[in-house]
Amino acid sequence: QPARAVDIVEEESGAPGEEQRRWEEGRLGAASLKFGARDAAAQEPKYQLVLEEDETIEFVRAAQLQGDEEPSGPPLSAQAQQKESIQAVRRSLPVFPFREELLTAIANHQVLIIEGETGSGKTTQIPQYLFEEGYTKKGMKIACTQPRRVAAMSVAARVAREMGVKLGNEVGYSIRFEDCTSERTVLRYMTDGMLLREFLSEPDLASYSVVMVDEAHERTLHTDILFGLIKDVARFRPELKVLVASATLDTARFSAFFDDAPVFRIPGRRFPVDIFYTKDPCDPAPWGYTGVPDGTGVYGGGKWLECFRGGWEEIEAACEMLQDRCRRLGSKIRELLVLPIYANLPSDMQARIFQPTPPGARKVVVATNIAETSLTIEGIIYVLDPGFCKQKSYNPRTGMESLTVTPCSKASANQRAGRAGRVAAGKCFRLYTAWAYQHELEETTVPEIQRTSLGNVVLLLKSLGIHDLMHFDFLDPPPYETLLLALEQLYALGALNHLGELTTSGRKMAELPVDPMLSKMILASEKYSCSEEILTVAAMLSVNNSIFYRPKDKVVHADNARVNFFLPWAESGYSSQWCYENFVQFRSMRRARDVREQLEGLLERVEVGLTSCQGDYVRVRKAITSGYFYHTARLTRSGYRTVKQQQTVFIHPNSSLFEQQPRWLLYHELVLTTKEFMRQVLEIESSWLLEVAPHYYKAKELEDPHAKKMPKKVGKTREELG
Ligand code: CDP
Ligand code: MG
Repeated sequence: QPARAVDIVEEESGAPGEEQRRWEEGRLGAASLKFGARDAAAQEPKYQLVLEEDETIEFVRAAQLQGDEEPSGPPLSAQAQQKESIQAVRRSLPVFPFREELLTAIANHQVLIIEGETGSGKTTQIPQYLFEEGYTKKGMKIACTQPRRVAAMSVAARVAREMGVKLGNEVGYSIRFEDCTSERTVLRYMTDGMLLREFLSEPDLASYSVVMVDEAHERTLHTDILFGLIKDVARFRPELKVLVASATLDTARFSAFFDDAPVFRIPGRRFPVDIFYTKDPCDPAPWGYTGVPDGTGVYGGGKWLECFRGGWEEIEAACEMLQDRCRRLGSKIRELLVLPIYANLPSDMQARIFQPTPPGARKVVVATNIAETSLTIEGIIYVLDPGFCKQKSYNPRTGMESLTVTPCSKASANQRAGRAGRVAAGKCFRLYTAWAYQHELEETTVPEIQRTSLGNVVLLLKSLGIHDLMHFDFLDPPPYETLLLALEQLYALGALNHLGELTTSGRKMAELPVDPMLSKMILASEKYSCSEEILTVAAMLSVNNSIFYRPKDKVVHADNARVNFFLPWAESGYSSQWCYENFVQFRSMRRARDVREQLEGLLERVEVGLTSCQGDYVRVRKAITSGYFYHTARLTRSGYRTVKQQQTVFIHPNSSLFEQQPRWLLYHELVLTTKEFMRQVLEIESSWLLEVAPHYYKAKELEDPHAKKMPKKVGKTREELG
């Protein structure tokens, strides 16, 4: 019998992207060790122990065992490695000295507001303390909500590691379309939206002993709704413990809302941060003020730097620009690693920001406000704050939702600055004047509930039997018109009757974890016998614009590939190579497949059978129209206008319909960037609108007075729209 114990030496095999199989063989007694088989898509080399008689044993990196979708999280800092113990790291966190005091406070009060700076250990430690204290005895569970999917996943992975358990066993996470929990999971990290949905199946949250609403200061829509529901449940479940954890913002308000619940403060460890403003107003976009490129200015001794940009497009653009400048400066500056971080970034890329910087090099992390509070990157010394964030806003008069770059709040700016003082004294450079800070920035960010559409939440509350929404216990009430419009839209979609009561169809719509229009579309696929195709559409919409990538040096190829996208991925056997060749993000596609599977599993519950349109795509388009008849635009002599509100809108130049300019269009969403762009458009016929929504459209408003005189092509070219 050959010896099976072998030392496996990790070795890089081949350059990334290299396709050939390369084996490195070494004989070990009777056994031989092979490693390094790779293909273009595999990121990990393969390690195999080949025994005689062709018996092989394969090795997988421990980090990979928990599924490669899981972010591997930051490695322990060097200091932590010296202590050689995860427990030592846990003991070093600011919350640790308060463990007993905190547990006593929780035992003595039903609701406790916990205030502590980012990184003090609220999210990772407090649920563990409760677990150790026995709050999960008798099969009870602890929920900890996070506003962001990435945070829920990475925090759960971190806690699982700290507890030495496999992710998905005692510790797990649950985010929309992805459930990494099991019967055994007692510590459940989940998005706030997922806990909201728990109310549908368990209105009193009876299986939970503790609910921790974390990152409460973010004031997301779902967190705000949770406040009202949990406050209510707490009244008739005196044994339920409610924790509201927040960065050092807003805690007095939370306390007042929960009948003057006590506030528990965890003192932070902070180093001073010097704040700098620009002398004169400036345009932060061109990066001329960063001082990074010449490497001689203020950043000379800098180790890490964090910059906050709007959305992922801006982040990628900023990274490219920085890299480009570094390349041009060559050896004139010290090595600079430029790394992006945003919610949709593939997890292996995310993990890179946590990796140690090579000696002598500096690292720049270009981040969205995800790094403001929900992710902690150790070692940031300098923060560069352009003073903007990407924010959703909603106009209840037109029903338009838009995502715009807006000035951030003072609270955000201070959170950002705080990131510079975690390991040593730091500096924060604000790309705006002190005057602008004083006079132009709002104190705090407007809570999401006041700047978003409410269709989804109203439908959910109605299904929970809460009818009088005007008197729901809101921390901050939404605008009256927004609530009204949500009710109107749900009525138009057939989810509510004229008394505002939930209909059978509305009940089914609430079962599906997607927006009302999307769920209406799925329900309508029954009528048009095309649920197979509609599921695919729904899944693709749910991962929307992260499907395609457009590397700067291959824009033309990528755009061609995008136009030819109809080439079925499925026919290629869902291949990653196909995705690569067609400039499609494999991970997004895989996620879309997962989403589709989940939705398919839910079809039965809403009594929709699995049917295919058999190539008759008009049926698919009609089903989509049944859900999205609200979002329609028609081509007029001056370009596209939305049918109901008469607002001027544009097809995005990246759209494959950009050249064709069809007369009638339906869109998935409107995004205001440089213009009001329709994202994900579909050509429709106006007569369908009367067919699917006769209660909403009159034949007269769909008449087309200019039909004959219409020029062949109006609107601007791609170049003009930039
Ligand atoms: O919630 P809070 O911001 O108070 O702190 P936390 O998220 O519990 O983080 C406590 C410590 O764990 C910090 O030093 C983080 O850097 C670390 N952490 C980590 O290494 N990996 C994560 N996914 C989350 C936190
Ligand atoms: Mg936290």
